[in-house]
Amino acid sequence: MILLGLNIDHCATVRQARYQQADSTVGGAVEPDAVALAVLAERAGADGITAHLREDRRHVQDRDIWRLRESIATRLNLEMACTPGMVALALEVKPESVCLVPESREEVTTEGGLDVVGNRDRVKECIDAMNAAGIKTSLFIDPDEPQIELAAELGAPWIELHTGAYANAYFGEGREAELQRLRSGCVRGHECGLVVNAGHGINYVNIAEVRTLPHLNELNIGHSIISRALFSGIEEAVIEMKTRMNS
Ligand code: PXP
Repeated sequence: MILLGLNIDHCATVRQARYQQADSTVGGAVEPDAVALAVLAERAGADGITAHLREDRRHVQDRDIWRLRESIATRLNLEMACTPGMVALALEVKPESVCLVPESREEVTTEGGLDVVGNRDRVKECIDAMNAAGIKTSLFIDPDEPQIELAAELGAPWIELHTGAYANAYFGEGREAELQRLRSGCVRGHECGLVVNAGHGINYVNIAEVRTLPHLNELNIGHSIISRALFSGIEEAVIEMKTRMNS
């Protein structure tokens, strides 16, 4: 069975659009509450909750992370930049996993994943710190062999393959080529002994193909599920995606 990690960032984005200046992230008139959403999503079958605490705090806030840590019953996956400040915070929060993502231009590969090859020492320091604390590190990378192989060499137990290029190509040229890149990436990751996750731009349509990728452990999905939840509620949105992932 492919697991579902629900990314709640876009719920926090809606809150911040109105309540950026509010003292609190919840209570009174402040809504929507991304933590309440996460708890409901878990009850509907989400296998983990992902939140990206960006350096600029544009959507998820520190308090959301602490409230998630206390409230959710599955797994907390903290997406973060590979910086000393975020490493220190992760060591305090102790999520089950962290996913290292690029935030500054220098860290990004051409396709948009973390450039592990170009940031080898910094990424290694981060992985070492997490491994020592018993927190799994996932690296959000393009499905390219050098990135995948280095992830394994540096001791990251997990990778999350960036599905954005595939999702962007879905209705145009290059879709099959991008899908094949992802397939090869999954196979190479598995051969290297990595747990292979994937995410970005996965929706209720392209999931029919994404789910055919080999060796997939978990998909991290945010935008499409949060969008559908506006109409159906989060429980139905999660159940529908899980059904499409594994039917
Ligand atoms: N995985 C990672 C590493 C991400 O940064 C994001 C987007 O925030 C997602 C998955 C989810 O992407 P989407 O919101 O397009 O489903």
